[in-house]
Amino acid sequence: MADTDPLIIFTPSGKRGRFPVGTPVLTAARQLGVDLDSVCGGRGICSKCQVAPAFGDFPKHGVTVADTALSEWNEVEARYDRVRGLKSGRRLGCQATIQGDVVIDVPPESQVHRQVVRKAASARPITMDPATRLVLVEVDEPDMHEPSGDLERVQAALKAQWEIEGVHASLPVLAKLQPALRKGEWKVSLALHRPANSEEFEILDIWPGFHEDGLFGLAIDLGSTTIAAHLCDLVTGEVRASSGLMNPQIRFGEDLMSRVSYAMMNPGGDAEMTAAVREAINTLAQEIADEAEINPSLIFETVFVCNPVMHHLLLGIDPVELGQAPFALATSGALTLPASGLDLTAINGQAQTYLLPCIAGHVGADAAAVALSERPDQSEDLVLIVDVGTNAEILLGNKEKVLACSSPTGPAFEGAQISAGQRAAPGAIERVEINPETKEPRFRVIGSELWSDDPGFAEATAVTGVTGICGSGIIEAVAEMRMAGLLDPSGLIGSAAQTSTARSEPEGRTHAYLIHDGTADGGPRITVTQGDIRAIQLAKSALYAGARLLMDQLEVDQVDRVVLAGAFGAHISPKHAMVLGMIPDAPLDKVTSAGNAAGHGARIALCNRAARQEIEEIVGHIHKVETAVEPRFQEHFVNANAIPHATDPFPELAKAAPLPKVSFGASGGGEAGGRRRRRARG
Ligand code: FES
Repeated sequence: MADTDPLIIFTPSGKRGRFPVGTPVLTAARQLGVDLDSVCGGRGICSKCQVAPAFGDFPKHGVTVADTALSEWNEVEARYDRVRGLKSGRRLGCQATIQGDVVIDVPPESQVHRQVVRKAASARPITMDPATRLVLVEVDEPDMHEPSGDLERVQAALKAQWEIEGVHASLPVLAKLQPALRKGEWKVSLALHRPANSEEFEILDIWPGFHEDGLFGLAIDLGSTTIAAHLCDLVTGEVRASSGLMNPQIRFGEDLMSRVSYAMMNPGGDAEMTAAVREAINTLAQEIADEAEINPSLIFETVFVCNPVMHHLLLGIDPVELGQAPFALATSGALTLPASGLDLTAINGQAQTYLLPCIAGHVGADAAAVALSERPDQSEDLVLIVDVGTNAEILLGNKEKVLACSSPTGPAFEGAQISAGQRAAPGAIERVEINPETKEPRFRVIGSELWSDDPGFAEATAVTGVTGICGSGIIEAVAEMRMAGLLDPSGLIGSAAQTSTARSEPEGRTHAYLIHDGTADGGPRITVTQGDIRAIQLAKSALYAGARLLMDQLEVDQVDRVVLAGAFGAHISPKHAMVLGMIPDAPLDKVTSAGNAAGHGARIALCNRAARQEIEEIVGHIHKVETAVEPRFQEHFVNANAIPHATDPFPELAKAAPLPKVSFGASGGGEAGGRRRRRARG
């Protein structure tokens, strides 16, 4: 290129260079390393290369762009505009050629490595660079005099047009190759997959001509209680649908250890559980594709995050070793394998599956996904991340060091084992407030913005009704009961006489607090029973003890900030979590929600191939702490049973929400009475 050649400047990258008159914008972009997308290789078919030229004076860049800086619209652009419509001011970068100095903006949707912004403010944006991508190639026709196979000519075309080498095709793809080439008149679209840490490519599917229906992937958070999935567009990164269902393995045992025991006690039990979960994933894949109105055969990738027991059961590996020390995993490494190996028949037969690495025998790929989403290893301050589920994943650390453990909280936080508990669905109570003076509750249910004492609440909830209480609802209810003086630090619910409210009802030898009585309308009576409080105490003690154990390892008594994650982590109120003593004391404004961080980590790994390598490296540097064999875990667990805690002071909580001193034990009286009893026993 000569000094007299026109200057082309790309924004936002600022990359610039001189090119001879007549050079297509796409060619200039490629030579300058500008992130401008193309699927059809410049044939004017895919429209991924759209650019927005700017005209006029640009003193900042030192150029003036004349109206004639780019070639006139050509027939290809005109046809594209007629058929599909081209936004005003846009050109196809592969068609428009440089005629003079020009400034070209590459809009976000035309960038190959476009960033997908996540809804939650704290979230890391995802940079699109999926392992499976679509390319169009124009293949030479066969020639009797220079015999070569169709696949070999596809390989040659990929090398010449895309600089892609090391391409393989499986038998089912080979079988489609010849008709596709001929029907597409020697132009075919290919879904090309390149696993992490590999230089090789696999053709997953082939279509005649330009394939317009897209490529999709599923990011699946396979939990003990629920299975949640996002269906993502592998080109744009957009989440096209999200859905979930209960893990059918619950019928074999509610928590992980009971499922391991089921496998131990019943020959073939592991295979039964494997079949159940695989069938559920197929159902979910079909449902989510229906919801997004796409053909499930366009799903080419699945990424799974799960705890070690679910990981083994999904893979068809007997989890028995995970039930006993030293909790050996069959493999802790990340896995890339054909989805057909997991019987995922609802999606494309050539689809690939990626499983994030596990951290240890009790700390799974779900914890790795949380680390990928929240990157504690990049944090300046000491951050505690708790992913609340049936099994809680806990990470503590900063740039210096990251520790991880998991803690068996049980399903109480997800509304299971709670008398009026239910899944978070319309009709479930999700927010609770109790007036400390009158002891009267008010609440909100999923599906309505109104509080139960707002006018119009009955009408607004007439369809869903008030059906039960979900995880975040029970956490708030118990914390509010403690704040209103209905519950003492040991977790005992006071009687009507002790609490001055008839809502405290006798139930056997204990009491229950009535939140809502819907019996007049044929609905349920929703109470928080003493049994519910005990279930929540066990769950929160396990969570707190796990966090405390990691703090011991780092020799700290305080953390700088806390991130609440989990499928319903976004719905847990920081204040209520702290009143309950689920998490260590911290300034309330330093407790934030990350939403479903494990699910987000799965999405990152689905949309960005390099992130797969990243997490494999991060996991290698995380120190695992095994709660099951740490003697101090039990001590921490017992102390954490009180609400908020028997021994740890909660000074930040005291500032934000002072808790009443009440005691409803056998001898009654205030806390002094409780202390007297302990001393008398000692
Ligand atoms: Fe496909 Fe321009 S590169 S239309």
